[in-house]
Amino acid sequence: MNDPKRFIERAAEFLKQQREMYGDFSVKLDTDSETRNPQIKEPATGFISKPTDNKQSDKAQAKAENVTEKKSTAERIQDCATLEELMELCKEAEELKTDLDGTNLVFGVGNPSADLMIVGEAPGYNEDQQGEPFVGQAGQLLDKIMGAINFKRSEIYIANILKHRPPDNRDPKPEERQRSLPYLLRQIELIDPKLILCVGRISATTLLDKETSLGNLRNTFHEFHGRELIVTYHPAALLYNQKYKRPTWEDVQLLRKRYDELGGKP
Ligand code: URA
Ligand code: URA
Repeated sequence: MNDPKRFIERAAEFLKQQREMYGDFSVKLDTDSETRNPQIKEPATGFISKPTDNKQSDKAQAKAENVTEKKSTAERIQDCATLEELMELCKEAEELKTDLDGTNLVFGVGNPSADLMIVGEAPGYNEDQQGEPFVGQAGQLLDKIMGAINFKRSEIYIANILKHRPPDNRDPKPEERQRSLPYLLRQIELIDPKLILCVGRISATTLLDKETSLGNLRNTFHEFHGRELIVTYHPAALLYNQKYKRPTWEDVQLLRKRYDELGGKP
């Protein structure tokens, strides 16, 4: 049975029928259950593991509901047909929040059908205040870098791995990144960019699912869900380390060249 929802519906239906027939509640997992009720063939075993008392059936019920709930988060994400719908879902999503109270959603900004998408790490103070990614000092430098390869901010789309600010600007935790990822992946699908630029190690290692240094990931194109992804240093790193400027410049020139080869617009 490959549709879990359907399986649960049928299991629930089965339990209901059993309850109606035998009262509340004992299902014997013996072979003659089939002779007593030949129409009901599955899915008796496995789902009801023991002759049940009420507690046991409550547990089974809770388990069934839990499975449905988990499935439905993924389904609700997948059901979003537009960025607006996804943003509404993100607004309600407790799992996107960090342990810093009262933060604003920083969903993403820019051209909704951009051929280039930039993915950073997480909002900082200014981004949280304005609800927009990369608006602080690092953001201004990012705009300059993109300007140097002839991209206007409005032509591309910018988002982060996390959609809420972590406390004290600490690195996003692995579990926070994993909780955010399904939302970001849907966002990428909806924008459907030809190229993704990850800025910084957190962004790159999260999307590529590979724990390694930024130096090992930059200067090349990676395959990512049928798209191409390139990695470079985080603009915040450039603010403090001059030595990252040249390699970043090389990476973004590579990016621009590939963008044009792929027929990126505008
Ligand atoms: N740094 C990031 O990674 N993202 C932002 O939005 C701002 C700073
Ligand atoms: N090292 C990293 O891991 N990331 C940066 O953005 C810069 C240096």
